Amino acid sequence: MTTELFPFITEEHIMIRDAARDFAQNAIAPIAAQFDETGDFPSETIKQMGQLGFMGIEVPEKYGGAGMDTLAYALALTEISKVDASHGTIMSVNNSLFCHGILKFGTEEQKQNYVVPVASGAKIGAYSLTEPMSGSDAGTMRSRAVLSETGSHYIINGRKSWVTSAPVADVIVLFTMTQPEKGHKGVTAFIIETDKPGFERGKKEPKLGIRASATGEILFTDYECPIENRLGAEGEGFKIAMTVLDAGRIGIASQALGIAEAALEASIEYAKLREAFGQKIGQFQMIQQKLADMKCRVDASRLLVYQAALAKQRAMETGERYGLEASMAKLFASETAMWVATQAVQIHGGMGYSKELPIERYFRDAKITEIYEGTSEIQRMVISRYLTGLR
Ligand code: CAA
Repeated sequence: MTTELFPFITEEHIMIRDAARDFAQNAIAPIAAQFDETGDFPSETIKQMGQLGFMGIEVPEKYGGAGMDTLAYALALTEISKVDASHGTIMSVNNSLFCHGILKFGTEEQKQNYVVPVASGAKIGAYSLTEPMSGSDAGTMRSRAVLSETGSHYIINGRKSWVTSAPVADVIVLFTMTQPEKGHKGVTAFIIETDKPGFERGKKEPKLGIRASATGEILFTDYECPIENRLGAEGEGFKIAMTVLDAGRIGIASQALGIAEAALEASIEYAKLREAFGQKIGQFQMIQQKLADMKCRVDASRLLVYQAALAKQRAMETGERYGLEASMAKLFASETAMWVATQAVQIHGGMGYSKELPIERYFRDAKITEIYEGTSEIQRMVISRYLTGLR
């Protein structure tokens, strides 16, 4: 699919897409397999991505970002993820789950103190909603924040899990209960500095895929969070979490698109090279059918990503929601990534199963896109609720 077909893709978009592509191919491709193997965090390349503006693409320049739009973000994230989905995850959390939430709901001081260093890549940001007993049903968390008698700070206790970048994050947007009896209306958001007493990093998750993106638990024991670090009002946390996830899901859709594109392109090349029974495998109808279906799904995913990015851009002016478009893009692109990566392994046969090629990594990395930032089941629930208005 050529970008020239789409008048909303400007020269500036193409410039950032190409810059991301060059960086991914020159700086990330040579190290991706090694970091996948060791599970180490790729600090050096992430720092460089910050210097290039990729860690805060939609953040205004006055807050340390690149001052571009959602489409620019989606195009760049797709290119990074096409080479390595782990870098894509770290980039996506910094951009959408961390910076977007503080820009939308934070005070000027919070934007200066926390968005500026994260958008420029000097610090790593994270987002913490999930708990061991609260995943898809996000309004049921057990961690607690209690306002101190003096009213100067909150005392936070509890355990959060599956936090992307937790093992390395400098600052985290945390969602916890201030008034548990109110259910989701009792959730409040806080900005947590991880170098303060009462904060501890728990176990690092040993994961199937996106292994270079560090994921882990965080623990709070009488952590004192100053009142100035509350994000939004008390009880506003659930809505902040959901609003931020709408943005995040466009990021995950772009990441999934990148993985799917990589798996498709590798399969096309392999079909042209590999021979069996006296001909190229691309001449067999069974391979042709796979490639044709892969291409249709990849391009359909891209259209849904564009639609979601444009819907978000419009929403930034009108204030309307774009969760329907975000969830559609995330659902379809993530299931496409998993399906296309599965076909890619099959087309490559033994070589698809070998660590000598990145195909098995695409397959392992694709799976998470159907799970995090809302499973496929949750996306279907969200989409259906938009369609019927029924809960
Ligand atoms: N924007 C703004 N407000 C929203 C909203 C949105 N997108 N979605 C819901 N709300 C509001 C509703 O309007 C409602 O407000 P009122 O009470 O004023 O009416 C309130 O939030 C509660 O909404 P629901 O009744 O719909 O809530 P629910 O309990 O039924 O849950 C859900 C809805 C969509 C299932 C939600 O719980 C959800 O998205 N769950 C999945 C959570 C998730 O994605 N977790 C992943 C965490 S991040 C991660 O993966 C780790 C990482 O580091 C990357």
